[in-house]
Amino acid sequence: ITDIGLITYKGFNLIRNVHEEVHLHKLEKFEIRENDIFIITYPKSGTTWMQYILALMYHSDQLNGEHSKRIMEVVPWIEVWMKRIDYSKMPSPRTFASHLPPNLVPQQLRDRGKVIYIARNPKDVAVSFYYFHNFSKLLEDKPDFDTFLDQYLEGKVFGNSWFDHIQGWYSNKDNFNLLFLTYEEMRKDLRGTLVKVSNFLDKNLDDAMLDMIVEKSSFESMRLCPNANLEHQSPKYFDHSKGAMLRKGKVGDWKRTFTVAQNEKFDKIYKEKMKAPLGFGWDL
Ligand code: PPS
Repeated sequence: ITDIGLITYKGFNLIRNVHEEVHLHKLEKFEIRENDIFIITYPKSGTTWMQYILALMYHSDQLNGEHSKRIMEVVPWIEVWMKRIDYSKMPSPRTFASHLPPNLVPQQLRDRGKVIYIARNPKDVAVSFYYFHNFSKLLEDKPDFDTFLDQYLEGKVFGNSWFDHIQGWYSNKDNFNLLFLTYEEMRKDLRGTLVKVSNFLDKNLDDAMLDMIVEKSSFESMRLCPNANLEHQSPKYFDHSKGAMLRKGKVGDWKRTFTVAQNEKFDKIYKEKMKAPLGFGWDL
């Protein structure tokens, strides 16, 4: 793979190899249906997990059998898969995932459709993202965590600054039909979170369905299930000797990576950048 690294589209950093300006441009005018569902996240915040959950909720019949589909086909990463899939032919309800900020998603999403935004403790995101740079062949390897952490804090990474992404979406929550979730609440009470999601989506899930989804979307089942595991679906994009898409799946594991100095620096910047506490349990 050549051309590793980032491009900037309207001030937003994206992975060069998979994003194309022509599609990003088209996406802004993309026609939204009343029952479209979007998962929106900063990278490494639980995207794949929720993609699989929505796949199980809406497309479970397509995940099994001889012609089983991949997660990315039933819940496509909209800005990237646009060149491969004709979304106008997808049956309703369509389900998508995106890492874009509010100004780059389809403009009609402000008028119709639903958005599930997942936020994760930015320290755990930093660690996950660092390892992902070494694992993914589309992103530059980073020499060490300290180097990466500085770039992450400055927003010189794919997805720009975590602070801008979350505050951009949070301050726009009333402009979209949006449900805010955290990775941590999914970890703590997945079943409760699923009930919240199903209420938001007006989707009836009986106990058996809930049990099935809780079981199939657990870290261990997803890690072992080729259909749930993006890395098996795009082997050429990943270096399996260097990591895994489902790496650890833990809350608070940043403590094992951050030094005291890195943590103090992070807290100081967090306090400067976050204009108001979000009340997510990991406000610093
Ligand atoms: S990406 O590349 O932006 O789409 O990555 P994303 O899927 O958002 O985030 C990857 C992290 O989510 C963890 N993950 C899970 N945790 C718990 N349970 C389940 N089922 C699950 N699926 C994915 C994954 O392990 C990554 O976190 P880390 O901390 O690196 O393990």
